[in-house]
Amino acid sequence: MSETAPLPLPVARSVASLRQTVKDWRAAGLRIGFVPTMGALHAGHLSLVEMARARADRVVVSIFVNPTQFGPSEDFGKYPRQEAADAARLAAFGVDVLFAPTVAEMYPAGASTTVTVGLVTDRLEGEFRPTHFAGVATVVAKLLNQVRPDVAVFGEKDYQQLLVVRRLVRDLDIDTDIVPGPTVREADGLAMSSRNAYLSSEDRAIAASLPSVLNFAATQLRTGADAAPLIEAGKAELLKAGFGAVQYLDLADAETLAPLAKADRPARLLVAALVGRTRLIDNIAV
Ligand code: PAF
Repeated sequence: MSETAPLPLPVARSVASLRQTVKDWRAAGLRIGFVPTMGALHAGHLSLVEMARARADRVVVSIFVNPTQFGPSEDFGKYPRQEAADAARLAAFGVDVLFAPTVAEMYPAGASTTVTVGLVTDRLEGEFRPTHFAGVATVVAKLLNQVRPDVAVFGEKDYQQLLVVRRLVRDLDIDTDIVPGPTVREADGLAMSSRNAYLSSEDRAIAASLPSVLNFAATQLRTGADAAPLIEAGKAELLKAGFGAVQYLDLADAETLAPLAKADRPARLLVAALVGRTRLIDNIAV
């Protein structure tokens, strides 16, 4: 099935080739797990792979840097691409097939359908990246149709994306269980992200204040404190630490992402901030 240079695991470059493999597995009664990624894999991705492996007989991982989810001034061109290194890690983690399609395979000439998810996309990332979630929803709908997994694992690091995918799967009757994977963090608490590779050593030191601010505010919120003053203090703390801008620091309902004044129900504290030219996001359960 491998259609290009040898990699240490089977690689499908086309939807047809992926479908044939999946069809054979299904015919053999095997349960299929899926982890979609954009590559530049780190321990956070690999923890999602382990979760998929624990829930399925066969695991597919996709690597596709999806152009439609990047805004015109965003980092699509410089997003890290390291397929051979990623493939070696996936092989070591027992992944059965890497699905690595080209842009032309995913979006052939004439492709003109976009999936948009309402409500849960209105705020936060949706406000600062207005075209992002349509790109994510469209590619995730396509990937789920192509792989047709029994279970797919999405990281809580992109918490709003996880809610978007859950909504999409419910609304379009896609027969896949969506399982959330906990955020994996560096020793100082920074959430693992492929974009951390952009950070200079100075910016990396500043970035460590992001989880500290989240943890401090979440601890207070859990005691019933008002969100507004904690959010103001948290933003000021991030700017003092060296962040150039805080796009949002927000307490939201964990299901709907509606803003909350207090953590009087299951809630999430979410942040997006810029250090140097790098945009970091993180969130924590409250
Ligand atoms: O989280 C990601 O890496 C991407 O948004 C996803 C889900 C693979 C869609 O391109």
